Amino acid sequence: MKALVLTKPGNLQIVEKEKPTPQQAEVLVKLKAAALNKRDQFIREGKYPNIQLDSILGSDGAGEVVEAGSSKEKKWVGKQVIINPNINWGDNDEVQSREYTILGMPTNGTFAEYVLVGADRLVEKPKHLSSEESAAFPLAGLTAYRACFHHGKISEGKNVLISGFGGGVAQFAFQFAKATGANVFVTSGSESKLEQALKMGASAAYNYKSKDWFKNSWQSKGGFDVVIDSAGGDQINDFIKVMKPSGRIVFYGATNGLPSSLDMYRMFWNQITLQGSTMGSDKEFIEMVKFVDKHKIKPIIGLVTPYENIVKALDEMAANRKTGKIVVKF
Ligand SMILES: NC(=O)c1ccc[n+]([C@@H]2O[C@H](COP(=O)([O-])OP(=O)(O)OC[C@H]3O[C@@H](n4cnc5c(N)ncnc54)[C@H](OP(=O)(O)O)[C@@H]3O)[C@@H](O)[C@H]2O)c1
Repeated sequence: MKALVLTKPGNLQIVEKEKPTPQQAEVLVKLKAAALNKRDQFIREGKYPNIQLDSILGSDGAGEVVEAGSSKEKKWVGKQVIINPNINWGDNDEVQSREYTILGMPTNGTFAEYVLVGADRLVEKPKHLSSEESAAFPLAGLTAYRACFHHGKISEGKNVLISGFGGGVAQFAFQFAKATGANVFVTSGSESKLEQALKMGASAAYNYKSKDWFKNSWQSKGGFDVVIDSAGGDQINDFIKVMKPSGRIVFYGATNGLPSSLDMYRMFWNQITLQGSTMGSDKEFIEMVKFVDKHKIKPIIGLVTPYENIVKALDEMAANRKTGKIVVKF
């Protein structure tokens, strides 16, 4: 089978690998689509912990189960599925176990014609989604779901700010928050992405490249109950200024690095929480797919391209030109 591996930091290559055979409790999924995440790009650049050369990359995938390891898993054969990319989250919903990893290094991932996974990683694809749309959800959708609900406690009527609307996770956070009836505001560095967010029902949209963007956030009438962010950096202090008392800033990344200072005075006086978040538990993965099904949520997809173009597709993701997910189809 064809598979994308890291041959050395900076160099990805599609190579021929042997098609794996499922053992007990496992199934073989023939992929129909796989989606790209920042994680794949970080691995490509050698900027991810515990880089392991020759593993097949890719955390997100949707496809058809074609082989079962034993009679117990046979019921899955022929089903259209989405794959939960968590490996060893463990029993505690609050935090992942020490053995936790993510599909797609060190375990072989979804950027191949076939992937071997535990049958307990499968969820049936909601009927309103195509395979390409389903593949867009796992890692980014789960991250957004946990940030919005486990930590952000977003509900109807809350004022929520989603920063960097164009991001893969952010677009899901936006749609999940909207589905609950929250008032959802966005930031982006791109005017066309801001317009897109307004068309999709954002209450207001701010360009984070303008130094004083947060001064316009009076439209939130009293500030934000929740901010969902992945950029980090000095901007955290702008968020602190525009939070309602007892507001929560949930961050699941720090693309722009650490802040040079932190306005702890304003934080403690206004009882602000700064909360880190990761992907999510196995229970949340199942809840997330049910939520998507119930609200008939569809991902924003910036690009669908043939699998053979996957390295170019990663370049495209790194350039941040597209809003939403980039998907390859097999
Ligand atoms: N903790 C976890 O488990 C987990 C899971 C998934 C992702 N992450 C992390 O979260 C980050 C985003 O991941 P992703 O997959 O959503 O990446 P992505 O699709 O590449 O999105 C990155 C987005 O960041 C936004 N951005 C850049 N500078 C910004 C700024 N100053 N303020 C606000 N937004 C800014 C841009 O938004 P605009 O295009 O709108 O300007 C860009 O589209 C990465 O660091 C990733 O490693 C962590």
